Amino acid sequence: MKLSSPNFNVMEKACRKAAKTIIRDFGEIEKLQVSVKGPGDFVTASDKRAEQIIISELEKARPTYSILSEEIGEIKKDDSFMWVIDPIDGTSNFLHGIPHFAISIGLQHNNEIICGIIYDPIKDEMFAAEKGKGSYLNNQRIRVSSRSKLKDCIISTGGPRINSEDKELSLSEYIKFSSKVLIPIRKMGSAALDMAYVASGRCDGFWQRNLSHWDIAAGIVIVKEAGGYVTDTKGGNTYIENKNILVTNSKINDEMIEVLN
Ligand code: IPD
Ligand code: CA
Ligand code: CA
Repeated sequence: MKLSSPNFNVMEKACRKAAKTIIRDFGEIEKLQVSVKGPGDFVTASDKRAEQIIISELEKARPTYSILSEEIGEIKKDDSFMWVIDPIDGTSNFLHGIPHFAISIGLQHNNEIICGIIYDPIKDEMFAAEKGKGSYLNNQRIRVSSRSKLKDCIISTGGPRINSEDKELSLSEYIKFSSKVLIPIRKMGSAALDMAYVASGRCDGFWQRNLSHWDIAAGIVIVKEAGGYVTDTKGGNTYIENKNILVTNSKINDEMIEVLN
């Protein structure tokens, strides 16, 4: 990895340590699929275990930084630096033994994400970026795709969550989008990896409603540093507040906004 600031090194170390237990647990899950009880409780425990490892590594190195993490919530300390953590993004895939999920860690400084890692431990793919230093997949610099016509693109989306307030809206948006644009839409089950795939040019765009900060924090800097755009679905910059996000390779941004609205 070409990124090597002290904060990046701290994040990478925490991430790789948690990945070891996640990989080991993933091996167990296959066996649990056939058990009567299923792997549900085991997955919850695994998620928490991974979170614990990440947090204790980060806290050891940066005791004053605040933390926002999916399972434990917020630990308020320093106002200006905050780690934003999703220990396993793509839990349903993990639970079903589908090898498509990631650890996501972002570092926020004064309301801006300045460093991010999205690590797919099964494929050993580490997507990472630091503000002003570019985005990388392992040791290779990555860029968004250059496709400029929606008809040539692959777009991903996710959700809606069963209990989300925006369920109806998400559904109607999905139906509207897929009926207007006859292009491949993927629902791969990890918003973090969806964003990483736009950053690396595998996909050309991604949108979703009702995401949480930990789903998208790392992805924001990784997409931006790879030359992509991050907005809300109307093209504004309120995606963190209103939890509805649009990520593109920049070239199809206007067309995406037009189709979604
Ligand atoms: C979920 C994944 C999924 C998205 C959901 C998220 P989780 O995160 O990112 O792709 O559609 O909205 O909640 O629960 O697996 O961490
Ligand atoms: Ca998530
Ligand atoms: Ca999660």
